[in-house]
Amino acid sequence: MAIHDDRLETYLEDLAHPGHGVLARMGEEGRAAGFPIVGPQVGRLLQQIVQMTQAKRIFELGSGFGYSTLWFALNLPPDGVIHHTDGDAKNSERARAFLTEAGVVDKVRFHVGNAMEILTDLDDPEPFDIVFCDVDKDGYPWAYDVMRKRVRVGGCIVIDNLVWSGKVADESVDDASTRGIREYTQRMWNDGDFLSSLMPVRDGVGLHVRLR
Ligand SMILES: C[S@@+](CC[C@H](N)C(=O)[O-])C[C@H]1O[C@@H](n2cnc3c(N)ncnc32)[C@H](O)[C@@H]1O
Repeated sequence: MAIHDDRLETYLEDLAHPGHGVLARMGEEGRAAGFPIVGPQVGRLLQQIVQMTQAKRIFELGSGFGYSTLWFALNLPPDGVIHHTDGDAKNSERARAFLTEAGVVDKVRFHVGNAMEILTDLDDPEPFDIVFCDVDKDGYPWAYDVMRKRVRVGGCIVIDNLVWSGKVADESVDDASTRGIREYTQRMWNDGDFLSSLMPVRDGVGLHVRLR
């Protein structure tokens, strides 16, 4: 169950085309390898959120080979910083190569391991302007516990796949990933410290602005 039918989805993907050589090549590599990148529709939204919040500090959980990282990094100011995390060292190496090629690697801090543990243990008391989550979906409730403490008031948490191909609304589906997304969504929407919405972009993007 997609949010949009195929023709409209193609229209929206074409409209969002990155117009940046390295991003376009990463998109092709992701498609060829069947690697689940956020794609250009979500990428543009991430860029807009950087601009709207005037972000300088971003933490990403589950960064893959750096596609979403690059959308963010291209819009960070020269003194901006983004933390790239992935459980797979090969993804981290591939990301470093692409981000170097795109000329933004100086803004990126690379970490290999469990993203929630890395954020918990990060020796940096400053809150983040944006925390973006795209880890394995059964980890979303754990990510909720960790992320909510690390974003500044007026900043936001952004999270991908809250629609999960419609499975969140299908009562016959009860796998660990779908359960993880449902629990995350339930907890976040009941959290009075955040103002939440679910944007119907690609597979559903959650946006949670920290109020207090
Ligand atoms: C959906 S992909 C991320 C794609 C990326 N956001 C992009 O658009 O380019 C998820 C990535 O998160 C990593 N991952 C999944 N669970 C993780 C966890 N708990 N900690 C760190 N990395 C994780 C996987 O290795 C994978 O590369």
